[in-house]
Amino acid sequence: CPQLPQQPTAWLNARPAPATRLHASHKGNYGDVAVIGGEGLGQRGMGMGGAALLAARAALHSGAGRVLLCLCDDASPSIDTVQPELMLRHIQALNLEQLTVVCGCGGGQAIHAVLHQILTHSAQLVLDADALNAIAVDPLLQEALQARAHRQHHTVLTPHPLEAARLLGTEVGWVQAQRLQAAQQLAQRFGCITVLKGTGTIIATPNQPPRLNPTGNARLASAGTGDVLAGMVGACLALGLNPDAAACGAVFAHGEAADLWPPNLPLTANALACRLLPLA
Ligand code: APR
Ligand code: MG
Repeated sequence: CPQLPQQPTAWLNARPAPATRLHASHKGNYGDVAVIGGEGLGQRGMGMGGAALLAARAALHSGAGRVLLCLCDDASPSIDTVQPELMLRHIQALNLEQLTVVCGCGGGQAIHAVLHQILTHSAQLVLDADALNAIAVDPLLQEALQARAHRQHHTVLTPHPLEAARLLGTEVGWVQAQRLQAAQQLAQRFGCITVLKGTGTIIATPNQPPRLNPTGNARLASAGTGDVLAGMVGACLALGLNPDAAACGAVFAHGEAADLWPPNLPLTANALACRLLPLA
């Protein structure tokens, strides 16, 4: 039985290093992230609000100046009482042109209705989970995604192997047998940085050789850790990293945090998001 920690929390020393904070700066200098997802339980929804919360908390704890949270739920709360820094918003109130958007975490079917607007207008975009599933079945959304690259609007895709297979119209077995090729195909087809998750996460950029992340382990095989990664990538983009550096840096830091986790304690996504490192 592990001893209770003397201090309840400690900061993880995660990379990339915190952005240099100039003395005469303010929160507006460190980027605005909006997380859009988290379908509620109404109208046979999936009740996945926690996924969006995890992404938003991860973006906040990764150093973004402001984090807005937009839940696809008519019964959305107006505050996250655990993380009151998060600002709950309706999507109509978001100025997408000014935001780094993290879209799809726990979004369910509800994300489909707002995705074209997000693809068309958001300044920088991370697409995860149900946003990817929606794009996989909708050619209009695929066109809107490809058009972003022509406008030089940064986009990072963060599929797990099944989401990647849906996007490529293939089987998950093929993706897993050809991980480098699958990631590169996604990057080329959609003109996006692609993070193919799983054991040995691959980061692929159009017209460049794909890279293999060296950090991470099976302790990340726990519900919600992918949502945390999406929020971390969003924060890195909002902080001004170029999309390739944002993807590589966030993937590295996410895996490194798992490698530093005390060996005798389970890793949970919320603790990872909030940098709550349990003390062994
Ligand atoms: N080794 C290294 N890394 C791993 C391992 C492993 N054995 N297992 C998982 N990971 C990492 C992945 O690389 C990824 O970063 O953990 C993360 C898991 O992400 P997801 O597969 O997206 O899992 P999750 O966060 O639970 O997804 C939640 O997204 O996929 C949808 O339908 C799902 O809505 C749900 C949401
Ligand atoms: Mg996921």
